Amino acid sequence: MSDDSAKGRRLRSQDWFDNPDHLDMTALYLERFMNYGTTPEELRAGKPIIGIAQSGSDINPCNRHHLELAKRIRDGIRDAGGIPIEFPSHPLFENCKRPTAALDRNLAYLGLVEILYGYPLDGVVLTTGCDKTTPSALMAASTVDIPAIVFSGGPMLDGWHEGELVGSGTVIWRSRRKYAAGEISHEEFLEAALSSAPSVGHCNTMGTASTMNAMAEALGMSLTGCAAIPAAYRERGQMAYRTGRRAVELVLEDIRPSNILTREAFLNAIRVNSAIGGSTNAQPHLMAMAKHAGVDLRPEDWQDVGYDIPLIANVQPAGAWLGERFHRAGGVPAIMWELLAAGRLDGTCPTVTGKSMAENLKGREATDREVIKPFDEPLKERAGFLVLKGNLFDFAIMKMSVVSADFRRRYLSEPGREGIFEGRAIVFDGSEDYHRRINDPALDIDERCILVIRGAGPLGWPGSAEVVNMQPPDHLLKRGIMSLPTIGDGRQSGTADSPSILNASPESAAGGGLAWVRTGDTIRIDFNEGRCDMLVDDGEIARRKADGIPKTPADATPWQMIYRQTVTQLSDGATIRGAEQFRQLSKTPPRH
Ligand code: FES
Ligand code: MG
Repeated sequence: MSDDSAKGRRLRSQDWFDNPDHLDMTALYLERFMNYGTTPEELRAGKPIIGIAQSGSDINPCNRHHLELAKRIRDGIRDAGGIPIEFPSHPLFENCKRPTAALDRNLAYLGLVEILYGYPLDGVVLTTGCDKTTPSALMAASTVDIPAIVFSGGPMLDGWHEGELVGSGTVIWRSRRKYAAGEISHEEFLEAALSSAPSVGHCNTMGTASTMNAMAEALGMSLTGCAAIPAAYRERGQMAYRTGRRAVELVLEDIRPSNILTREAFLNAIRVNSAIGGSTNAQPHLMAMAKHAGVDLRPEDWQDVGYDIPLIANVQPAGAWLGERFHRAGGVPAIMWELLAAGRLDGTCPTVTGKSMAENLKGREATDREVIKPFDEPLKERAGFLVLKGNLFDFAIMKMSVVSADFRRRYLSEPGREGIFEGRAIVFDGSEDYHRRINDPALDIDERCILVIRGAGPLGWPGSAEVVNMQPPDHLLKRGIMSLPTIGDGRQSGTADSPSILNASPESAAGGGLAWVRTGDTIRIDFNEGRCDMLVDDGEIARRKADGIPKTPADATPWQMIYRQTVTQLSDGATIRGAEQFRQLSKTPPRH
């Protein structure tokens, strides 16, 4: 073994490339890497072999910039004495994969587990960006537990249209309401929407992509300041280089995901999510990552730890600005600096830098108070997720940072009944049904109605769809009513600003309470008690059960069939049932 090797410790990759007990196999493992010019000396020097899990491709434009950035990651790996080996991961393009990219998160996870476990890799750089690329990669890194570091691709530059900032997704939800109200033409709608994408990178709002990369940083799994650097900035390439270097050191220092991904780290991530006005998709994804990390995260942790954290990031959809200004204001470290100073962050958590989170955050105070507010002068108090339960579901969340003052006045301020709302349910079975009937005058929808959508969960869709942020019928939009309360067993886009009750579990297709609600029922939402119930007596609910669970589409692909046979509910992370029993696979090498 050479001097470059990990302080006399034999590296995992040497079981492939330097194994006298399996000489014939060693020859087979080595020979094909030669065919693009790699030398046996490199592979047999005991240098850390670092995988680059490449998530970018033409079919995942949000991450495509990683094809370029990987060159700087390689430079960093080489300069630190490692050998880079780049390989593709299963694409996850949020906006384009039908019936939903959520169906593929567990597939990407499975694929990456097999690669990290079955190939001669000592460590890995996880390239991330678009929504599910981050959780799937971290889930797999935990399962295999080789040294791993997240390198995000960064958000696109800020979008502008007619002198105004236009953010990914958010501009689409806002413009389609204007379009429905007859205020803009079809062409104007498209023009506004398309100007939100001015450069390489992922969504520039605090949607699910920015949120999940902030979560990776908050968990301690990427270098300090990585998440918010815009994709096109020179700092992004510099961060790629430093991340590559650090990946090699992680192997030499033997720092693994299991050293970093503790319960305390996950609770920190939940707090950061509230403070940034992060996506509701963080709930199932953090849950899934925690399960694969062997961490006991509970659905109620969102309420207990996250609910009373204030919103301090003034970034769309909960605030005004976009990714560039958020980065220049200090990004995720400045947010965490505020939480730490307020005593609301565990600074002792270890991180991939080799230092504690508190050490990483030294000197990282915000530099632009228009964008990152002080903890005690926030944009909004109690901005986390409210956790609800009742006879419609055992678990659902509501993102309080997007509940507007106008919405509170309209629905939650009835004298003597503050925080309680009762409305008439309008029930849709899937989004086709919603689009077909939302403007049907027979439904007689007014501002006291609650829109309900079911068949949108992991089993029902399948995969769980971002369809709960339903817009009101055109006649209400024309009167200036831009949102109604909505409830569903699906999700909503992280870029949406709708006051929705989401991720309801168990879902309708699993026989949850949403299966038995009917149009015309009264639903009561009690924000004080965290309850959401249909006011229907048990006898009537029992009678309705005879009708059976509302129908959902048949499996359309082999993976849909396997997914449905194995998936858990959103409250539980929508993981593969039983997969969490496979932990720290790298402790036992696979057979030759
Ligand atoms: Fe890929 Fe938003 S669609 S990051
Ligand atoms: Mg989305």
